[in-house]
Amino acid sequence: MLKAADFGSDFLWGVATAATQIEGASNSYGKGMSIWDIFSKRTGKVKNGHQPVNACDFYHQYKSDIALVKTLGFKVFRFSISWSRILPLGKGLVNEEGISFYHHVIDECLVQGIIPYVTLYHWDLPEELSKNGGWTSYSINSEFNEFVMLCARTYGDKVKNWIVINEPFGFTSLGYMLGVHAPGETGLTNFFSAVKHTAIAQADGGRILRAEVGKANIGTTFSCSEIIPYTQSDADILAAKRIDCLMNRLFVEPTLGMGFPTADWDVLEKFTVSHSTWRHNERMTFDFDFIGLQNYFPLVVKFNAFIPVIQAWEVKAKSRRKPHTAMGWEINADSFHNIIKQFAAYPIKNIMITENGAAFKDVLKDGKVMDEDRIAYFKLYLSALLKAKNEGINITGYMAWTLMDNFEWAEGYHARFGLVHNDFKTQQRTIKDSGFWWKDFLTK
Ligand code: BGC
Repeated sequence: MLKAADFGSDFLWGVATAATQIEGASNSYGKGMSIWDIFSKRTGKVKNGHQPVNACDFYHQYKSDIALVKTLGFKVFRFSISWSRILPLGKGLVNEEGISFYHHVIDECLVQGIIPYVTLYHWDLPEELSKNGGWTSYSINSEFNEFVMLCARTYGDKVKNWIVINEPFGFTSLGYMLGVHAPGETGLTNFFSAVKHTAIAQADGGRILRAEVGKANIGTTFSCSEIIPYTQSDADILAAKRIDCLMNRLFVEPTLGMGFPTADWDVLEKFTVSHSTWRHNERMTFDFDFIGLQNYFPLVVKFNAFIPVIQAWEVKAKSRRKPHTAMGWEINADSFHNIIKQFAAYPIKNIMITENGAAFKDVLKDGKVMDEDRIAYFKLYLSALLKAKNEGINITGYMAWTLMDNFEWAEGYHARFGLVHNDFKTQQRTIKDSGFWWKDFLTK
């Protein structure tokens, strides 16, 4: 039987969240609008017109929510700072109410013996900055640095664990290439210019934290997915390689000083060559104390000549008759193990799994929330993680996604990933069976 003790007594167990997904109070206490507040108001962008206005009301319930983290047996609480809550216009004017809110959250963690891991950017760019191009604009780097500096100087005495950016590939691709996430921009030119500025911001952020925060433990996070060719044909194998360059290699390699992975995909050369001068390569590099990996699914891809540039197409889990979550994401713990190994081949000092979890259609009965599927999922994935750790990979922590059901971006409130059920009408929290499973796993 799987035991938490098998991971070692120093292993850090946590739950992860993000500001927009849980806080609510999106338009009060001096907070400025973020791109998600605006994007979700646009017809058809978020399922059922859901908006993050109230989300989980964490803004008012943070004390009892942090108590829940503790009840479930976790040591770490990962949350993000909403940029537009502390800098309503993205720069300049500081909102003191926003500043004190995060002081309260951090203090509450410390009082309850929970270690705060603070993410600086989890996708909620201030709308005012987006008006000038947001991540596609040259000015974003100085604006981001101002935000990081403010956070570091304000909270650095109390917070030692920092995550600069959450999944750079996630928001640059969904928000600036495909237009399905905020701010809804499309096209490769927008995408690659957002990529460049984000890669710079990530390393700049690391440098600012290093200079400003004594004894800081600084990380950043990458989404990762094993990319599996549909067949062993050359065309499918090459298609898989292109997707791998995009989804797994695009950000980690510049961070490690290797530049963009242009050698393995010439199209990347075309789009990044103007950005990839030695000067930028140096600026995109930072020696992070840990790299956060976030895994949700593998991707099976086949060649498709009709898809411009990338010429690859995903073959969905459902059509391959593979077990999948409510999001349609394949459940495949071997692929989790494989992608950890792929990243471990880089010169990374320390890997933390900063997100992993699943949405299912939970069953509510007699005041209980039954989610056997989620328990089975965690057992599988944690076994794969232990296997990777026992093979000698330096993995030092795991954070489950997520504490409670929340605003799941373009999916609205339907996709439920929580260990705790949330009734969005009453804001009543109910620990799911999976939450009790974690409690037993971590405390018995
Ligand atoms: C994001 C989370 C999101 C989760 C599930 C991750 O990519 O960081 O904010 O809720 O995936 O979709």
